[in-house]
Amino acid sequence: MRNLVAGNWKSNKLMGEALEWMNGMGPWLAQNHGVRVMAAVPAPYLAVCAEKAPEGLEVLAQNVSAEGFGAHTGEFTAEMLKSCGVAGALVGHSERRARFSDTDAAVAAKVDALLDAGLVVVFCCGETLQERESGRAEDVVLQQLQSGVLRLGAERMDRVVVAYEPVWAIGTGKTATSGQAQEMHACIRKWLDEAFGAEVAQRVPLLYGGSCKASNAAELFSQTDIDGGLIGGASLDPHDFQGVLEGHPGLNR
Ligand code: 13P
Repeated sequence: MRNLVAGNWKSNKLMGEALEWMNGMGPWLAQNHGVRVMAAVPAPYLAVCAEKAPEGLEVLAQNVSAEGFGAHTGEFTAEMLKSCGVAGALVGHSERRARFSDTDAAVAAKVDALLDAGLVVVFCCGETLQERESGRAEDVVLQQLQSGVLRLGAERMDRVVVAYEPVWAIGTGKTATSGQAQEMHACIRKWLDEAFGAEVAQRVPLLYGGSCKASNAAELFSQTDIDGGLIGGASLDPHDFQGVLEGHPGLNR
């Protein structure tokens, strides 16, 4: 199913608030279907959230180590995530690329580690304002995808999700217009088609992220190549997040 909306809490909430959120989503998820729903929660809460998540909610990590088991203090592996009941992880988020040394090569290694463990990869890509204004947005996104995703074997694409998040739209309240987002999503679909063929390209969920909220979700999600969203600020409160989900045309109530 291409319909997918994922929350990304980033570094927010305490343990009790995380559990309140899970409880707050339960009744809504029991009544609404047709869109896959995920939440990327802070690492300390992963095991508990995965256990307490209501039916219909998949828990994601916001990062993973590319290293296997061993002397890597502070890191956690994809196998560890799997053993906690976590569905997968975000990789390549622009906040990690910009501030935590997630280079294209490091991101690619994390993609491989997740896929080797049989987990879902939510691969984030997107250009800065300067890159967009200098006309390089497509080149930048293509380069990120080439190193992270387009090099994979087609048989590994079943568990890959691509999230286009223009850096200038993240947490700024400045959303890409549905036209701008659709234009980039159409490019991404075309690059997937060239690398893997139409059947795979048509199956990969393409999410938009960047100041997506209840008031603009329906317009964004109505675009041909926008299959859902990766939601930061508007995912922190279950009511707000449900408002975003309710903008999805695939929702059956
Ligand atoms: P905002 O929705 O807060 O702009 O964050 C988007 C994002 O970075 C999700 O990963």
